[in-house]
Amino acid sequence: MNTIEKYKQYVNTAFVKAVEPVVVVQGKGAKIHDEDGKVYTDLFAGISVVNAGHCNPEILAAAKAQMDRLVHCCSYIYHVPVVADLAEKLAQITPGRLQKSFFGSAGAEANEAAMRLAKQFTKKQEFISLQGSFHGRSWGTLSITGNCGRKRGGGPYATGCTFHPAPYCYRCPYQMAYPACDLYCAKDLERTIQFNTSDNVAAFIIEPVMGEGGIIVPPPEYFHELQPVLDRHGILLFTDEVQSGFGRTGHFFAIEHYPGTEPDIMTMAKGIADGFPLSCMIARSEIADSFRPGDHLSTFGGNPVSCAASLANIAYFEREKLPEKTLEKGAALIGELKELQKVQPLMGDVRGLGLMVGVELVTGQAKAPATEQANAVRGLMRQKGFLIGVGGTWGNVLRLQPPLVISAEELSASVRALDESLRAL
Ligand SMILES: Cc1ncc(COP(=O)(O)O)c(C=O)c1O
Repeated sequence: MNTIEKYKQYVNTAFVKAVEPVVVVQGKGAKIHDEDGKVYTDLFAGISVVNAGHCNPEILAAAKAQMDRLVHCCSYIYHVPVVADLAEKLAQITPGRLQKSFFGSAGAEANEAAMRLAKQFTKKQEFISLQGSFHGRSWGTLSITGNCGRKRGGGPYATGCTFHPAPYCYRCPYQMAYPACDLYCAKDLERTIQFNTSDNVAAFIIEPVMGEGGIIVPPPEYFHELQPVLDRHGILLFTDEVQSGFGRTGHFFAIEHYPGTEPDIMTMAKGIADGFPLSCMIARSEIADSFRPGDHLSTFGGNPVSCAASLANIAYFEREKLPEKTLEKGAALIGELKELQKVQPLMGDVRGLGLMVGVELVTGQAKAPATEQANAVRGLMRQKGFLIGVGGTWGNVLRLQPPLVISAEELSASVRALDESLRAL
């Protein structure tokens, strides 16, 4: 049996519409090689993970050196130098007073930890998150995920979770237009608290740029308007940077695009270690210290090899000024896509920050989601040697989230391939 046949026989993939018909055997920088020797430009980075490029040699070297010393001993039973070093570094590069890290292996694990910690600290039990949000596949994180497409068949979910309309300007839930709306979607959080909760809310959870929901970027003043509402009710701001973190949007963390905003708790994973499994929940000290013995742990959390990879990853980011370069490349890519939008009527909206870019495909004035066309474009792009993602609540948003080391030429070639693919529909 070949790999695809073995997948059909032995790998449980019943939960995805289809696995892409590409057998990946190698990756380097922004390129992926299949088993027949075909080379693809990767515009999805393993769902926004290998930000410093596939098989970055510096990161691999750090991981290999750590493997020769120690792979596992449980970083919460014993002290491990590389875990301490990474926690110190994260306290330095995260915004505001975020200081103490809890390490896990996946984004969902970090978010579960944050939910637990927020309850412990505030002694309150409810959560508010956004409609269209995605926070993971565990029961707790699905409970705060605002999309039935991810939750169907798994309910009932945790009580006390409320969903507030998202700052989705292209499809404003209030039928308003920015900036005339005066950020009503942020101010209206007051009414959500008033009418949909018992005012016992531990945390408001938000992806600073929504990923799975279709690359939705809140307007610049959004968090400024939100904060007073949170403060009035003693609600913690918990930012989920699992997808938007690690240079993806042109800053180390997307929340840095909103100066003056200080998360109380922040989670990260995906790009944290360039493909090695690691996640982190970081909080202000007084919040972190509200855990009591027995409250939490993770056997694999803070795996020394992943932590060594993460430290090398961050060093690479800083030396190569990857976030700054991402901002430039992303602006150029969005500019080229907006030009293309003028002649491609299917391209309803082009949006993003840095190299977290979405192209929402629609038909007609009513902006009907062009879901089938989005899937067809992904197939056509693949045939041309470009791998993209598709997402959004209705599956009609093309997601361009390449390794951040991708070149300007590769990005321009991708836009040309998109043009040809849209014309071929
Ligand atoms: C914003 C966000 N939070 C959490 C998760 C869950 O991360 P993981 O799949 O590593 O558990 C994801 C995954 O896509 C995500 O995009």
